Amino acid sequence: MENKILKFPAGFLWGVATSAYQVEGDCDNNDWCEWGKKGKTKGIAGKACDSWNKYPEDHDLAQELGCNAFRLSLEWSKIEPEEGKFSQEAIEHYRKVLQDIKAKGMMRSVTLWHWTLPIWLSKKGGWHKKHTVKYFTEYCKKVIEELGDEIDQLLIMNEPRLPLNRGYLAGNFPPGKHNPILYFLARKNMVEACKKCYDLSKEIKKDLPVGITQFCNDFDYYNSKFLSFITEQTENLYNWYFYDQLRGHYDFVGINYYFAVEVKLYPPSIKMQTVDMQITEMGWGVFADGLYEVVMDAWDRYKKPIYIFENGIANAEDDHRSAYIKSHLQKLHEAISKGADVRGYFHWSLVDNFEWVEAYNMKFGLVEIDFETLERKPRKSFYEYAKICKNNAVEVG
Ligand code: FCB
Repeated sequence: MENKILKFPAGFLWGVATSAYQVEGDCDNNDWCEWGKKGKTKGIAGKACDSWNKYPEDHDLAQELGCNAFRLSLEWSKIEPEEGKFSQEAIEHYRKVLQDIKAKGMMRSVTLWHWTLPIWLSKKGGWHKKHTVKYFTEYCKKVIEELGDEIDQLLIMNEPRLPLNRGYLAGNFPPGKHNPILYFLARKNMVEACKKCYDLSKEIKKDLPVGITQFCNDFDYYNSKFLSFITEQTENLYNWYFYDQLRGHYDFVGINYYFAVEVKLYPPSIKMQTVDMQITEMGWGVFADGLYEVVMDAWDRYKKPIYIFENGIANAEDDHRSAYIKSHLQKLHEAISKGADVRGYFHWSLVDNFEWVEAYNMKFGLVEIDFETLERKPRKSFYEYAKICKNNAVEVG
C-alpha cells in the first residue's frame, strides 16, 4: 500500500514545548526545589539543562527542526524573588530569550505559571490562600507590561488540574496536602486568578491571544450505567472544569494530551487507570485515537481555536517516538478534516529535562542531553519531526 501524505492547513504552527523549572537550572527559590530537598522527587533539579545560559543552542535546535513556534514558561521565583520586589535583571534576561526566539523565526507561546511558586509565597500557604490571587495578578501585570511586546500567545497556567489533584488530594506535589477543603479553595482561587489575568491582559495588550492549557485524557466508557455516569462526571471535572468556569475568559483552548483512562471501581473507592495499550516508561498507555476524541470533544463544546500544547512520550531508546508522533498527528489531521479548528502542535519536549517527581529518569526529548556535560544530541526522531515541520505534512503508511 502506498504511503499517504497528510497536509496540514497553511500557517499551522509546529512547535516544541519546555518549562522553566524543567530546563533552566538554578531555580532554587521555589517550592519545587524545597520539595526536592525534602526527598519528594527522585533527584534534584540543580542545573537542569542549563537552558538559562544555553537557550541560544536550544532555539537553534528548534530552528533546525523547522519549527515556527516555541513554547516556554517564565519562572516566577526569578522574576519576583522576594514579595513585591521584581528583578529587572531576570526580566531583561527573558527579553533576550524571547527576542532570540523571534529572531530565529518562531512565534513565542509563553506560559506564566508552570507549577512553581516562589518560596516566599509558598511559605504563606499557596493557592488555597486567597491572597495568592492578588500576588499572581501582580506578577502577571508586571510580566505583561514589561514583556508583552515580546509575547505572541499567553498561557496563564499550565494544567491547573495537576497541581490541584496532586498537591491537595494525592499529596505528591507541593504543598503535599490531602485535604478536599483546601483543594476546593485552591481551585476557586485559581479560577479567579485566571479570570483576573485574562481581563488584565486585555486591558494592557488587547490583541494578545490569552488562554490556558489543560491536561486532557481520553475517557473510556462502559456499558454499565453507573460507571458511565461516574466516568462522565470525572471527565467533566478533569478535562473541562476550568474551560466551563472560565467561559468568556480565553481566546483558544489548549490541550495537553498523553493517554486514555478508564474509571474503575474498587469498592469503596474509584480509581482512574491508564488504558492498557502499549505502556510507556511513564506508565502511560499509547492511544492516538484518544487525541482525536479529546479534540473533537473540545471543538463541540467550545468552538474556539485549539492548540495541542503538549504531546510526547518518555522513550530513552527512541524506538517508539517517531511512530508515536506520526500516529497522533494522523489523528489530529482527522480531527481537522472533520472541522475542528486546530491551529498548532507543540511536541513535549525539545530536550530531555527534569520530569517533576520522576526527576531525570524520564526521557521526553527529541534531543538527548548528557546531564554531565550538558551536551545536546538530536535523536533519530528529531529528524523525523523535522520532516513533518518542514513539509507541513505527515507521511503515514
Ligand atoms: C505534563 C507537564 C509537563 C511534562 C509532561 C510530561 O503534565 O505539563 O511539564 O512534565 O507532563
